[in-house]
Amino acid sequence: MEYEGLRALVTGGASGIGLATARLLAERGAAVACLDLDPSTISEPLLGLRADVADDASASAAVADAGQQLGGLDIVVNNAGIGAAGPVEANPDDEWRRVFEVNVLGIVRVTRAAMPWLRRSPHAAIVNLCSIAATAGLPDRALYSASKGAVQSLTLAMATDHLADRIRVNCVNPGTVDTPWVRRLLDAAPDPDAELAALRSRQPIGRLVTAEEVAAAICYLASPLAASTTGTVLAVDGGMSGLRPRKGGSDGP
Ligand SMILES: NC(=O)c1ccc[n+]([C@@H]2O[C@H](COP(=O)([O-])OP(=O)(O)OC[C@H]3O[C@@H](n4cnc5c(N)ncnc54)[C@H](O)[C@@H]3O)[C@@H](O)[C@H]2O)c1
Repeated sequence: MEYEGLRALVTGGASGIGLATARLLAERGAAVACLDLDPSTISEPLLGLRADVADDASASAAVADAGQQLGGLDIVVNNAGIGAAGPVEANPDDEWRRVFEVNVLGIVRVTRAAMPWLRRSPHAAIVNLCSIAATAGLPDRALYSASKGAVQSLTLAMATDHLADRIRVNCVNPGTVDTPWVRRLLDAAPDPDAELAALRSRQPIGRLVTAEEVAAAICYLASPLAASTTGTVLAVDGGMSGLRPRKGGSDGP
């Protein structure tokens, strides 16, 4: 199998995109550790480990534990992330720091702790979870977008720095994905059905992306079969970043 003998770590692996990715990696033959704030729902064959990527001691201890229990690390999927709503003035400094602590510094901490393991792997790969919010202006997502813009830039810098180590680094930029996160946002909306319809129609394919579709893209980038792919930003966004379909009317510029 594609991932036979490889060891993978997925942060935020208890829910949504992280869980779908962990399951797909395991299905394809990898041994997988899922780091999460709450790993209680993670079941075999996945190894669940408690970790807060916003805390360096917690993140580095969990990465070391994963590396020891799996006998090494070949793949790191930096998926743990949190959101924030509102325009630039909506959130106080502490909230800006909290989101950057998880979405950006979380990647830094986990990667830093995993590096000694990755350097020993002949198939080392890192995949970071970025977002359409890094490349398109979405309403009321100033803080979240800034954090994901940093993730995209960090991905390219990391890919360059680790060419010599033969550690590939790529990111995936999903559109709106049907995960527990998005379901929580819908539940909190004044009219959840109208909100869901608006999110669907924003994506040219007319529906939300599935967590399994994002997982498949992550597993493509992390695979030894993608050994020549590094520094890539892969959109899984239903066409949202590049397509401008017309809803009716005649063709024309
Ligand atoms: N759902 C979307 O529409 C969407 C779109 C683009 C990008 N993304 C990105 O995909 C990633 C996963 O999103 P999702 O929709 O699956 O979310 P989710 O809320 O369903 O799952 C996120 C998981 O991360 C864990 N987590 C959060 N903070 C953590 C921390 N400090 N330490 C360890 N674990 C932590 C949570 O406990 C949860 O299990 C995020 O980085 C998100 O920004 C999501």
